[in-house]
Amino acid sequence: MAQADLVIRDALLYDGSGAAPVTGDLAIEGGRIAAVGSVGGSAKRTLDARGLALAPGFIDVHTHDDFALRKHPDMAFKVLGGVTTCVVGNCGFGPAPFREAWQMAAGFQSAGELSGWEGHRGYLETLEREPPSVNVATLIGHGTVRLAAMAAPKNPAPSDAEMAKMKAIVQEGLDAGAVGMSTGLVYEPGRNAATDEIVELAKLMAGSGALYATHMRDESLGLLDSVDEAIAIGVRAAVPVQISHHKASGRRAWGMVSQSLARIDAAQRSGLDVHADQYPYTAGSTILSAVVADGRFGGGLGTLTADDVVIASSKGHADWEGKSIAVLAREMNLEPLATAHRILEAAPGTTAVLHAMNEDDVRTVMRHPSTMIGSDGIPALDGRPHPRLYGTFARVLGRYSRDLGLFLMEEAVYRMTGFPAAKFGFRDRGLLRDGFAADLVLFDPKTVIDVGSYEDPKHPPKGIARVFVNGVEVVAAAQHSGARPGCVLRRTTR
Ligand code: ZN
Ligand code: CU
Repeated sequence: MAQADLVIRDALLYDGSGAAPVTGDLAIEGGRIAAVGSVGGSAKRTLDARGLALAPGFIDVHTHDDFALRKHPDMAFKVLGGVTTCVVGNCGFGPAPFREAWQMAAGFQSAGELSGWEGHRGYLETLEREPPSVNVATLIGHGTVRLAAMAAPKNPAPSDAEMAKMKAIVQEGLDAGAVGMSTGLVYEPGRNAATDEIVELAKLMAGSGALYATHMRDESLGLLDSVDEAIAIGVRAAVPVQISHHKASGRRAWGMVSQSLARIDAAQRSGLDVHADQYPYTAGSTILSAVVADGRFGGGLGTLTADDVVIASSKGHADWEGKSIAVLAREMNLEPLATAHRILEAAPGTTAVLHAMNEDDVRTVMRHPSTMIGSDGIPALDGRPHPRLYGTFARVLGRYSRDLGLFLMEEAVYRMTGFPAAKFGFRDRGLLRDGFAADLVLFDPKTVIDVGSYEDPKHPPKGIARVFVNGVEVVAAAQHSGARPGCVLRRTTR
């Protein structure tokens, strides 16, 4: 071995495989892990990591950072929490075609002008020319594709010509290296699509290693039918499936996750590659327009009351942020549905935090072997974004693993590193192995914890000491270094 750029000494090594940790050293050379274990020889720099844990960088498989990567390339809200890779393009909202992507995201993504890009290829090349601080992989957003291809995107069925156009855009994304396609079946315009349309598009991915990720049609009383639809799409199109933010939403649906998990188990036993991701909170967050999408308050999001829905960010209306629809309805002297419509007229991109889940369900899903971690953070940095944007990974490590004992720390680390890397096809990431990319997090297992609350969310977690992306130190002493060494991760055939 040549002289290492850096040797981190005497850390508690969590290797990302789920194996019990061992104390040892790790050497970095040329952006890669050069040795793990007992590292001799000299190095340009050494770090004494006694008492700290060293793990692969956290992979956030569920993000909406498509535009944030351009507008906030330091990605402080992610890297300060240990995230080194973001998968964008979730819930049917993809980065291309640009015009439709921007139209769908405007409002809930943070403000500011952006020059566009040509297709998924152009998006990824733009990020390569001006790299962010984290690595990025993208999904193709089915909603964005549908909006671009159909004259009337609210129509249930595309014409043959529109279907051909959708296929062309999906194929362009796959050729550019997208890791899959996502749907958002509660959102416009994806919610108008029939199962057959999705199967036909997903078939383009068969055999490519790309996966089908889905924000399902109904996460409430229709949860089981929705899981069945996701599984059927995977089976019929012969593609792996990723169920996004697995949950049972709304009081009447609480407890149903044991059945949805059983369906995942059964599908796995019959040979389907199906898993899920989860954020570790009992509140969700989405665009307010989805709360009233079917003409009733709450609707497909699951028997929500006006107290359950709290405004997170509303452009030009900071006075609404942090207030529930119930409170605003009284102030405006309107019914909840009319209140939501009044808010959406004033600020169409308004986002909300939805207090819709049950803590037991959160734990049941998290404990299940099919679940990996993804933040689903919405980078509306001007308002009060759901605290998951900052704290997801630290909260799983500190609260759910260490404090509540849901699983051992090595398993918590596995669910945010080796497991997602295998699912999404990041073949040289997610593990502490010779030759793997040096995406690393050094954290204090005794103190790591999320800090932000719903009322005051914009705080990085405690206990994340240092973060390396491709061997470059992006976080030192819990501060951003300013470095932007992120890479674009394109799909490789598995
Ligand atoms: Zn979603
Ligand atoms: Cu999402």
